[in-house]
Amino acid sequence: MDSLAIPTEHCADADAFLADMKAGLLARPRHVSPKYFYDAAGSELFDRICALPEYYPMRTELGILKQHAVEMADMMGSDIDLVEFGAGSMLKVRLLLDAFPRQACSCRYVPIDISGDHLHAAAEQLTADFPSLPVYPVVADYTALTTLPGLGSAMRRRAGFFPGSTIGNMSPVEALGFLTQAAGLLNGGGLLIGVDLVKDPTLLHAAYNDAQGVTAAFNLNLLKRANQELGADFDLDGFAHHALYHPTYHRVEMHLVSKQKQCVTLAGIRHTFDEGESIHTENSHKYTVDGFRELAARAGFSPEAVWVDDDHMFSVHWLSAH
Ligand code: AVJ
Repeated sequence: MDSLAIPTEHCADADAFLADMKAGLLARPRHVSPKYFYDAAGSELFDRICALPEYYPMRTELGILKQHAVEMADMMGSDIDLVEFGAGSMLKVRLLLDAFPRQACSCRYVPIDISGDHLHAAAEQLTADFPSLPVYPVVADYTALTTLPGLGSAMRRRAGFFPGSTIGNMSPVEALGFLTQAAGLLNGGGLLIGVDLVKDPTLLHAAYNDAQGVTAAFNLNLLKRANQELGADFDLDGFAHHALYHPTYHRVEMHLVSKQKQCVTLAGIRHTFDEGESIHTENSHKYTVDGFRELAARAGFSPEAVWVDDDHMFSVHWLSAH
């Protein structure tokens, strides 16, 4: 897979989940970072969410990418290091790779993801379909990445790819910090980023409360992980999935709500939950096109092209870092 054989393996911090979980359960309101959703099982559940009829972001963004991939590849340029933040299953990047003119493109692909198993499996599948593409998987938390390990000696102009509106997991202040850091990392190139848009709350509610309960299973998988990996004793039937759009903050919040009064032990500490008490597990912020362009500009990017679907559900932005 790695045709230039540069090992770029990075070790994601194994203790971070425990430390964050411990701190998050002691905090009020209780919270855990959504980045811990994505173990192998969680990544699979997320792929199932993306196939749900109610979950519009995935297919809408795919439609935008399909329709405008040539234009996007053109803006990114050739001979680049294409760096994907949170690469997941690497489905979307295929649309870009297909759009690069074959002879002209000697680009290298640097997928970054926190879920190592999923990353490597996806990278192998990608290599099967793009045998001449050099792929350098990096197992890392891309939100805390200030340099790219291993590629320094042969550095090229970088084009970032951050689809899926994953930036929505960050608060606007955190997003500003991330974008500022990305603008530095991508200096001389740019960032292609997918951003979910503010819309009718009914549509948002359906997207995060699917009829088949896949999103609920995805949310509850966090507790399953804590039991398996941290030796916690969460009763998985004792918590309910709850997702609601918060208009003031322009975000969908996901919670795990305790169905009854109960005790949970993690690392020797007993936590008492009253009925209705929750662990806040995710924020999914929604933006207006102009609001996001303003944020990107404050981070040091020059917002250039923006593509939106006909129903104004989702946006993809090319932010230049020149
Ligand atoms: C991957 C963060 C973009 O916020 O819509 C899907 C994750 N959460 N359903 C989102 C998610 C619940 C997703 N992001």
